[in-house]
Amino acid sequence: MIIPVRTFLLLFTVSFIYLNNTITRADQQFDFITYRCNYDANYTRNSTYQRNLNTTLSALPSTNSGLGFFNSSSGQGIDTVNSIALCRGDVNLDMCENCVNDSIVNLLQLCPNQKEARGYNDYCMLRYSNKTLLGSNPSQDGLILYNIQNVTNKDRFSEALRPLLGNLTAAAAAGDSLRKFSSGNTRGPDFSTIYSLVQCTPDLSELKCSECLENAVSMYAVEYSGKVGGRNLLPMCNFRYEIYRFFNGSTFAITSPPSSPPPTNSRASPPVSSPLPGTKYICIY
Ligand SMILES: *[C@@H]1O[C@H](CO)[C@@H](O)[C@H](O)[C@H]1NC(C)=O
Ligand SMILES: *[C@@H]1O[C@H](CO)[C@@H](O)[C@H](O)[C@H]1NC(C)=O
Ligand SMILES: *[C@@H]1O[C@H](CO)[C@@H](O)[C@H](O)[C@H]1NC(C)=O
Ligand SMILES: *[C@@H]1O[C@H](CO)[C@@H](O)[C@H](O)[C@H]1NC(C)=O
Ligand SMILES: *[C@@H]1O[C@H](CO)[C@@H](O)[C@H](O)[C@H]1NC(C)=O
Ligand SMILES: *[C@@H]1O[C@H](CO)[C@@H](O)[C@H](O)[C@H]1NC(C)=O
Ligand SMILES: *[C@@H]1O[C@H](CO)[C@@H](O)[C@H](O)[C@H]1NC(C)=O
Ligand SMILES: *[C@@H]1O[C@H](CO)[C@@H](O)[C@H](O)[C@H]1NC(C)=O
Ligand SMILES: *[C@@H]1O[C@H](CO)[C@@H](O)[C@H](O)[C@H]1NC(C)=O
Repeated sequence: MIIPVRTFLLLFTVSFIYLNNTITRADQQFDFITYRCNYDANYTRNSTYQRNLNTTLSALPSTNSGLGFFNSSSGQGIDTVNSIALCRGDVNLDMCENCVNDSIVNLLQLCPNQKEARGYNDYCMLRYSNKTLLGSNPSQDGLILYNIQNVTNKDRFSEALRPLLGNLTAAAAAGDSLRKFSSGNTRGPDFSTIYSLVQCTPDLSELKCSECLENAVSMYAVEYSGKVGGRNLLPMCNFRYEIYRFFNGSTFAITSPPSSPPPTNSRASPPVSSPLPGTKYICIY
């Protein structure tokens, strides 16, 4: 059978587009949980800024400092574009790179002509701006997410969570210029275990990192203590806690009280559990 050239070309084009779409389509597991575009600063199509943004973000995935922190800038003067990406401290290299690559595609689609944007998913965050990002530490702009389920004993839950977050903050802040991340767990009320992690971008000093996390925690605690899970995502630091294991390993394993069975779990890094069924997150800007 002879396929007419035009049909052949059409078939070829259709399958090429299909193929292309399957390749470039971002992986759903890296969809943002929350993101923000700054609508006060737009760029125009085909502008120098857009070209610089493209250059900056194309280079970003190859700037891994070694442990999941990326930074890339290009352009000059008012057309300077800065970008950073940060993978959660326990995420492996492969997943980290995929997450950053997908986040770039996603954020450019979600904020199609904004000079400044940021997006967060469970495994990484991406941020770009015409402003300087490294070393800056804006203390506002936390994106709070919380699980609508309440704990049974708010006061006892807070009494367990607070010192854990304090210890994790100290450990993360003391990290080096490649990684400022810490995760761990503690015994909560009613035989529960509270899991938490905290992270700063590693360009922050120890002091700036602690300040950022303390601010993140107090901002959250004012309104949302008593929830079974929550996070506060700031531009340069974030924390998360849950009553299930949501991360791999424990860089900072905190053992259970002596009365409970030996914590065979806490150092051996058991598999990550699924989220609690029937729960949902609410995001507050
Ligand atoms: C930027 O663009 C958005 C829509 O893309 C528009 O709603 C907004 O008003 C623009 N902002 C400025 C400052 O022009
Ligand atoms: C970023 O862009 C906005 C809007 O175009 C502008 O007002 C602001 O001055 C720029 N910031 C820097 C640091 O260039
Ligand atoms: C942007 O550039 C592309 C390709 O160079 C062109 O097809 C398009 O018309 C341009 N868009 C605008 C708004 O200038
Ligand atoms: C930059 O532009 C090129 C050519 O249009 C495109 O292939 C590439 O995917 C863009 N990069 C990003 C990060 O959008
Ligand atoms: C956690 O570890 C498992 C098993 O090693 C691996 O399949 C998974 O990708 C890891 N998750 C992250 C977030 O790195
Ligand atoms: C991420 O994108 C870069 C180029 O932008 C590419 O070199 C790299 O292979 C990609 N990584 C993964 C894990 O797909
Ligand atoms: C949690 O507690 C708050 C305040 O006490 C209440 O308004 C809310 O309905 C409770 N949520 C659920 C899911 O029970
Ligand atoms: C926090 O650290 C202190 C000192 O190392 C330790 O005694 C305490 O058990 C830790 N508490 C939690 C909840 O991690
Ligand atoms: C950011 O990138 C520049 C240029 O590649 C590099 O010299 C610098 O060390 C990086 N900064 C951090 C904090 O990773």
